[in-house]
Amino acid sequence: MNVSEAKLRRFREKVLSYYLSFGRTLPWRTTTDPYKILLSEIMLQQTQVDRVVEFYTRWFARWPTIQDLAKADRTDVLKMWLGLGYNNRAINLHKAVQKISKEYGGDVLAAVKNFKDIPGIGPYTSAAVQIFAKNADIVTVDTNIRRILIHEFNLPDSVSDKELWNLADQCLPKGRSRDWHNALMDYGATLLTARKTGIKPKTTQSTFEGSDRQIRSKILRHVLNAQPATFEELAKVVGVGMERLKKIVQGLVEDDVLFVDNKKFCVTH
Ligand code: ADE
Repeated sequence: MNVSEAKLRRFREKVLSYYLSFGRTLPWRTTTDPYKILLSEIMLQQTQVDRVVEFYTRWFARWPTIQDLAKADRTDVLKMWLGLGYNNRAINLHKAVQKISKEYGGDVLAAVKNFKDIPGIGPYTSAAVQIFAKNADIVTVDTNIRRILIHEFNLPDSVSDKELWNLADQCLPKGRSRDWHNALMDYGATLLTARKTGIKPKTTQSTFEGSDRQIRSKILRHVLNAQPATFEELAKVVGVGMERLKKIVQGLVEDDVLFVDNKKFCVTH
């Protein structure tokens, strides 16, 4: 799809003027440190902005640099992540920063450009870090930006990622990528919401209550506080049937969240 220059100009003006009046002040918008931006993007992937703000601030008080985090104990990293949910993010993050510290000399930007080599980093995060840290003239499309584009250009829900990224590329005001993406995120999160537009995200979070995700979280919480933990202890704490518990624990081991040592479960080797 090719959009006329006049239409693109009007769209840019609308979004940027909204940002000028109603843009949110968020802690990761006052830094260009790629490590801090990377952290914020990983935290924001599946967690609400308000909640991330609290965690973000605490995180850097504890681990101000990527080297500090790379050296941190895995138990401490997971404990710090408790409450943000989707703990695989913390595991991948810790692996990622260790790799970046060791193999990329701590250079987050070089590493995200080569994102296929880095655990937990996909095309969205790779581009977002380059945009917010370096004002790079590239685009990224998250769920907010996807919704805005679908709404603005009357696209079907089934529009492909390729088409969306191509359209996003046409919309980008060159030289203003950082502002533009911040503006889009606010426009989508606070004005053109899913509720208002009726445009559903491509993926939605499953209900937490009673889910395997909730059981995983309970298991992890217990192991973090009482490792090494036995299976019997977990059964007592979690209170689900043995078969289900076994499967969930197996999943945690397969995902490298838990390690088994002498029939007991730990988060470190
Ligand atoms: N969601 C993902 N990245 C974001 C950012 N940089 N600002 C606000 N919301 C976001």
